[in-house]
Amino acid sequence: MLTLAVINQKGGVGKTTTAYEFAYGIQMYRHTSAASGRSVGGMLLLDGDSQGNLTLATVGRDTEGMHIAGEKSTKPYAARRDLGITRIDCADVEDTGEQADLSYHPAEAIDYRIIDCPPALNKRTLGFLMDADEVIIPCNADVFSLTGLSDLLDTIKVIKKQANKKLKVAGILITSFNPRTKVGQIFCQRIEDIKERYKVPLFETTIRNSVLVREAQALKLPVQAYKKNAPVAQDYEVAVKEYLHI
Ligand SMILES: Nc1ncnc2c1ncn2[C@@H]1O[C@H](COP(=O)(O)OP(=O)(O)OP(=O)(O)O)[C@@H](O)[C@H]1O
Ligand SMILES: [Mg+2]
Repeated sequence: MLTLAVINQKGGVGKTTTAYEFAYGIQMYRHTSAASGRSVGGMLLLDGDSQGNLTLATVGRDTEGMHIAGEKSTKPYAARRDLGITRIDCADVEDTGEQADLSYHPAEAIDYRIIDCPPALNKRTLGFLMDADEVIIPCNADVFSLTGLSDLLDTIKVIKKQANKKLKVAGILITSFNPRTKVGQIFCQRIEDIKERYKVPLFETTIRNSVLVREAQALKLPVQAYKKNAPVAQDYEVAVKEYLHI
């Protein structure tokens, strides 16, 4: 199983949105490109943030059978089979700082797991980093993002060296982007510098700012399912394909 953590300790940079769009897109485009006969396994989307935004965005908190945030339920998951997502797990609302329990009993063969991390570099987030194979770092075009980004990349370096050798940065993904603004241009230059300094990949695709993202989330849909041909949906489609190398 491949575990992909969507991580950035800065709040509101598009982690939850990216986790959902990638879960949907990866399933969608893996299926489309599986002409080779390779079978595509199930997708687990893990809401690792005690805010529960991913749960809210995908199934809602009151879904029957769902492990509601904060509730010690024995029914631990929901699914969005219509979107190819086999299972959605929710974090506890009370973030004790302890590492989340990632064990589960697969009813179907899950071969991809995407973790939506909280906006903090706490014990729980570090636990996810110890567990992950890859990370995607969404970053919005705001110069305050950059200090945090260096800290995060330093942390990833240490974890990779000392605890999780397989950990790899799949890419920094620029979200809510408007290239026409001055701040967008300054940001691009600075992020290029970070890319060079840390030798980490930067997605060529950027995700534009669009109100359609919020609209889709209000309907509990990824924007790629809500308005497939909208420019922002295409951005996510291209980003997922870039990630999958297809
Ligand atoms: N490309 C986009 N265009 C416009 N709005 C966006 C875009 N991506 C995300 N948003 C909106 O920005 C807000 C923050 O996004 P999101 O919840 O994905 O960030 P986050 O990093 O998970 O936040 P947190 O750190 O609080 O968990 C949400 O209201 C979301 O709808
Ligand atoms: Mg979030």
